[in-house]
Amino acid sequence: MKKTALIKKAAIGAAKEAGRILLDGMTQKLTITYKGELDLVTQMDTLSEQSIVTNIKTHFPDHQILAEEGNNHESDSPYRWVIDPLDGTTNYAHRFPCFCVSIAVEYEGSIAMGVIYDPIRKELFFAEKGKGATLNRQPLSVSSRPILKESLLVTGFAYNLRDNPNNNLNHFSRLLMKAQGIRRLGSAALDLCYVAAGRLDGFWELNLKPWDTAAGFLILTEAGGSVTNFAGEPFSIDQREILATNGKIHQEMVDVLTQGEKSYVC
Ligand code: IPD
Ligand code: CA
Ligand code: CA
Repeated sequence: MKKTALIKKAAIGAAKEAGRILLDGMTQKLTITYKGELDLVTQMDTLSEQSIVTNIKTHFPDHQILAEEGNNHESDSPYRWVIDPLDGTTNYAHRFPCFCVSIAVEYEGSIAMGVIYDPIRKELFFAEKGKGATLNRQPLSVSSRPILKESLLVTGFAYNLRDNPNNNLNHFSRLLMKAQGIRRLGSAALDLCYVAAGRLDGFWELNLKPWDTAAGFLILTEAGGSVTNFAGEPFSIDQREILATNGKIHQEMVDVLTQGEKSYVC
């Protein structure tokens, strides 16, 4: 089997196994600890990450790993796995059924593969660079909705929103007045997948981390969407602003997001 096929098999297998662990956890007592005032973590975040990292190390012991809960590995390998073992932890802790596992694989610094698995709906989103995106093996494409006022948007708020003046409330209120509606799902990775699937037309958020966006960025791009910062410039997973749309409403959203902006330090 070619190396890419092996990586794909390992990434999908690891995401599904982690998804099973998270589903089991839905009926178990959760131990909750706090990383910040609003930022919580459960034992299932840790167990999911341990399972994914063990899987990767079994198949690719030299590959680098960047994982949210800290099971990192640095080496000279051109491959790096970027992992969010449970995206939507606040939902999960409240038993609100909207969360997923997100795994991306970078090769020489650019994202080559992305897998996002929602174990509740058994939805597996997948993309390989240059080869399109799929949902449960069926091709995915973004909506063709042409204008903002007919569009359904989604966003999120960072855990530091009470302390950070750049907390997205200004963007939220402006876009609420311009779009057909705005949702807040509580999982940035699923937000990106839902734009990729045409269920939503645009997503924006501030202060996300590489593991929140790495896999979803590729899935949305491969589904025909556009991903930039708020100014419409190229996106990278180390940036703190993301604007991800079906492409058609991108400029309209850039205009609203940059309208009368003060520059804050994130
Ligand atoms: C969070 C979710 C949420 C977003 C937060 C993220 P977590 O990730 O993606 O939608 O608004 O900014 O931190 O903590 O559940 O992995
Ligand atoms: Ca996350
Ligand atoms: Ca997480």
